[in-house]
Amino acid sequence: MSRVTLSRYLIEQTRSHNTPADLRFLIEVVARACKAISHQVSKGALGGVLGSMETENVQGEVQKKLDVLSNEILLEANEWGGHLAGMASEEMDNAYQIPGRYPKGAYLLVFDPLDGSSNIDVNVSVGTIFSVLRCPERNGENGDLGEDAFLQPGTRQVAAGYAIYGPQTMLMLTLGNGVKGFTLDRELGSFVLTHDNIKVPETTQEFAINMSNQRHWEPPVTRYVEELLAGKTGPLGKDYNMRWVAAMVADVHRILTRGGLFMYPRDSREPEKPGKLRLMYEANPMSFIIEQAGGASTNGVQRILDIQPTSLHQRVAVFLGSKEEVERVTAYHQN
Ligand code: AHG
Ligand code: MN
Ligand code: MN
Repeated sequence: MSRVTLSRYLIEQTRSHNTPADLRFLIEVVARACKAISHQVSKGALGGVLGSMETENVQGEVQKKLDVLSNEILLEANEWGGHLAGMASEEMDNAYQIPGRYPKGAYLLVFDPLDGSSNIDVNVSVGTIFSVLRCPERNGENGDLGEDAFLQPGTRQVAAGYAIYGPQTMLMLTLGNGVKGFTLDRELGSFVLTHDNIKVPETTQEFAINMSNQRHWEPPVTRYVEELLAGKTGPLGKDYNMRWVAAMVADVHRILTRGGLFMYPRDSREPEKPGKLRLMYEANPMSFIIEQAGGASTNGVQRILDIQPTSLHQRVAVFLGSKEEVERVTAYHQN
């Protein structure tokens, strides 16, 4: 059987679903950048890419060398092609303007260049998460593109995906009609379609949460996790297993592969911030992918994709994965 590469898949999407040519180009460019990041990540200590910088990002987190390098790779790959009106990233305070010498396009690209960066130095999976929006008409036409152009709810995403740099490098992608998984063939240098019809099982016996924050949680989460831990003889009547990679990409990838529930609730450590994860470049793209695979995603109160963002780096509580458990923990918030 002939192999379907990412390029062929995208061209066939143009024929079957009218995917615009510039969106197709955008995805190919992002995929190419992810290949370059994968290459850098895999060099590790040999490439001198491990360790931290002396700088902090807008969230006050110390930047790793690979956070900065991955951000630069994505910017450089995407700024010249004429497909974007602007970009935004976890590693940049403000919207990135397309340099004046290049043409501008119809789309906005938002990304977490390297997710799970605490895993880099210990040789555990990390990834890149991205979200594609349409740029509102006229925004940035005369002069700079403002942050407000990006502040669109997740339902308006036209594409989203992530690359995971693990034992294999994979690219998971949705254009709004299901989720496809591509594995990087390093000899050919192309992403090949290997996971055609990704579905998150509706029920699960596996959950992911950073248990060390338990004392800071809100009552519905405490109650729910207590019930999970109570196992077969508890109110849920089954035993659950727990996994926590501490890279959202890796935890979500496991859930896409075999089901599960991922939680990063808000907690009382920083009461003014609703959780740790960022809406625009972590929660929204992952929620789009999970929903497209038949799963669900909420912040405990509402569907994440319906949230109207108010700032680029805004945080949000996240409960995503197998439908039955997302619905259960969301219902506990409503009681
Ligand atoms: P990033 O490396 O992009 O800052 O994201 C890390 C996030 C997410 O990937 C992961 O699920 C979570 O932080 C891990 O948090 P803990 O350190 O609390 O385990
Ligand atoms: Mn991240
Ligand atoms: Mn990151």
